[in-house]
Amino acid sequence: MSDRNASDREHWGSRMGFILAAAGSAIGLGNIWRFPYLVGKNGGAAFVVIYLIITVFIGLPVMMAEFAIGRAAQRSPVAAFGAIGAHPFWSLIGWMGTLAGGFFTLSFYNVVGGWTIKYMIESLSVLLPLAADGKSGDFFNAFIGNSYQVVFFQVVFMALTTLIVLGGIGKGIERACKVLMPALFAILIILIFRSVTLPGAEVGINFYLKPDLSKLTGETLLDALGQSFFSLSLGLGIMITYGSYIGREERLPSSAVWTASLDTLIALLAGLAIFPAVFAMGLEPGQGAGLSFVTLPAVFAKMPAGMVFSFLFFMLLFFAAITSSMSLMEVATAFGIEKFKWGRAKTVCVMGVVIVLLGVPSALSLAGAPQIAGKAFFDAVEYLCNNVLLPVGSFLACLFVGWMWLPQACSELTNEGKLAFPWMKAWIWCVRVVAPIAIAYIFVTGLKW
Ligand code: PHE
Repeated sequence: MSDRNASDREHWGSRMGFILAAAGSAIGLGNIWRFPYLVGKNGGAAFVVIYLIITVFIGLPVMMAEFAIGRAAQRSPVAAFGAIGAHPFWSLIGWMGTLAGGFFTLSFYNVVGGWTIKYMIESLSVLLPLAADGKSGDFFNAFIGNSYQVVFFQVVFMALTTLIVLGGIGKGIERACKVLMPALFAILIILIFRSVTLPGAEVGINFYLKPDLSKLTGETLLDALGQSFFSLSLGLGIMITYGSYIGREERLPSSAVWTASLDTLIALLAGLAIFPAVFAMGLEPGQGAGLSFVTLPAVFAKMPAGMVFSFLFFMLLFFAAITSSMSLMEVATAFGIEKFKWGRAKTVCVMGVVIVLLGVPSALSLAGAPQIAGKAFFDAVEYLCNNVLLPVGSFLACLFVGWMWLPQACSELTNEGKLAFPWMKAWIWCVRVVAPIAIAYIFVTGLKW
């Protein structure tokens, strides 16, 4: 795309379209699958509080910074830093982000994306009867232990992502997000209603909403930091790429506030749908990656017309996942087009195959092997991306924007001084000082394989 010049670069059709697309990238498995299981693993409400603090003071300012870089550069992340006149060192951020996002994150993301397709189908057959007998955990374990199936659904998910990305920005990504995101929201509300009215739900509500700060450790902080970046799609160049498609007249700060708020809202709602049910049904909140896939079918089994709701829910989860995976894929694609000067169609297909192959070891590792230094390959890639590459990428982005590129960033955030941005001072403090120090501190104290 960027082999054309900036003025005929494809742009979002409308402001709403852009916010929904950015929110579509942000809202995904991270909110509904990953956030609740980290809350469960890290002891409940205390994690939620830390997550919120980090999102406001670190995530949101970093998102504004990424939007600013993207719109100023009108390039994909690898070329963006050169285009705005930065020293070649800073292109490292773009390179790292492209590798971490377009390739590694997407490689495990599409595995979980495949689960949503499997669950959509099984909702219509054995899933709910099994869940009604308390066997949703066995069902999940049997599924992820069956490598052929997991790889099969992973390939299907990736093939669908590839097809949408082939359609381009406006027609493919933007149009899909406009319809799917509101539908997801509606069904979450219905689920919450069922979950909090189950007998015994109060214990779960307390676990989720009453913080016990003694449960905090360095690891919790790093989990919260990584999750905040992951959920907001930061540190990987996604928001640089999406920012590069924003029109010159848009307000970047308020777009970022909208995107981050919608993303956080959906994560919080997902927790509210899941935890009351977990406790009401005597399930284990800290069981890890299977949490939503085990708990929610049990909730559906207790609802009238549960099958319909289950099908709809996994369908929407699938859509939430695919609007995120296509944003990840867009990074790999924009990179291929710029670097190799291939056409869009060829690039998308080649990248699709490469990413599927990268994901296969993750898919297989759910059944036990391969492992990296004692962690299943899947967990290792996930940890490396979210708890290492994302924080490091965002740390560097803060240093760059806060210390090397501040006047231009301020001008970008205010549309060359034409817009008021009352929080400018606070934003500057966050990107220059608060975010880099906090990220460095949390990273050093929390890193634990
Ligand atoms: N934010 C997405 C989610 O929550 C995942 C994602 C991460 C997408 C990074 C793009 C970039 O599921």
